[in-house]
Amino acid sequence: MIEFRDVHASYGDATPILKGIDLTIEDGEFVAFVGTNGAGKSTTMRLMNGLMKPDQGTVLIDGVPTTQLKTSELARRVGFLFQNPDRQICSSAVRDELLFSFQAVGRLDDEARRRVERIIEELGFDGDADPFLLNRGTRQLLALASIVVLAPPVIVLDEPTTGLDFRECTEVMDIISRLHRAGTTVIMVCHDMEVVADFAERVVVMADGRVVGQGPTFEVLRDRRIMEEADLVPPQMVDISLTLATASPRFADAPVATANTLCEMQAAIEDIVVGDAAAPAMSKGNPEDAPFQGAVRKER
Ligand SMILES: Nc1ncnc2c1ncn2[C@@H]1O[C@H](COP(=O)(O)OP(=O)(O)O)[C@@H](O)[C@H]1O
Ligand SMILES: [Mg+2]
Repeated sequence: MIEFRDVHASYGDATPILKGIDLTIEDGEFVAFVGTNGAGKSTTMRLMNGLMKPDQGTVLIDGVPTTQLKTSELARRVGFLFQNPDRQICSSAVRDELLFSFQAVGRLDDEARRRVERIIEELGFDGDADPFLLNRGTRQLLALASIVVLAPPVIVLDEPTTGLDFRECTEVMDIISRLHRAGTTVIMVCHDMEVVADFAERVVVMADGRVVGQGPTFEVLRDRRIMEEADLVPPQMVDISLTLATASPRFADAPVATANTLCEMQAAIEDIVVGDAAAPAMSKGNPEDAPFQGAVRKER
């Protein structure tokens, strides 16, 4: 468990950056941190791996303040992926980079070498390749692998999908959700609301060094007050359903007003159209002629 108790932090000058953060992250959760640039998300992440210490208040990992944990002890408990993976990579071969993770925590033994070979195979890396000659997506995968290989109980990921194309993003999120399903606590800063909606169980919204809202993902994403305060736009489907809910009393109580995903929205619209005598083609027609209807059926 990770706890923030009235945490204030700054970068050495008089400017306060975090202004009283209170948070609890339970074991096994998948929590996304969202907020505009400069909101204090990365600073909050740095406090979780002890790279930064609070000016005031306490950050506790499993009940122990980070100020009392040695760096190697913290690294064993919390794996950390930087916002820019290039800051994390320091070896001249993929295999060495993965081995270095174990070396850094003083565990470079035969078991470590086996795990490195296994992850090289699983992720399809060339163990001899120079990390700096890999493309951005593969370097990000390597940076992620160098944390994952240590199997920490908690991983903190600062914008793991930024700058990746769709396929690379899917690959990275696949690894992260597999880890989560296996019991790892995932704490992720993410600016892509669609990714947040797809993966996170809980969302923490930050603005100007404070937490301005937190709760189950869709409760937060559908809360206009929180989203406006943090100057954020919810995922497209949530935005559409909120707009429909306020646009017409016909929709206000219908499932379109509560749809969170494309699948739910399609099903909700289908129900309206099917129940609507004005649209006989959708209700009585051949499903082959109504791909939209067919798609809804398939997804369900
Ligand atoms: N190394 C640093 N030195 C001084 N100020 C910093 C440093 N890193 C971040 N800041 C400042 O702290 C504030 C919060 O930054 P950050 O935590 O990186 O926000 P976010 O990750 O939400 O974009 C910003 O105003 C930023 O300019
Ligand atoms: Mg940041």
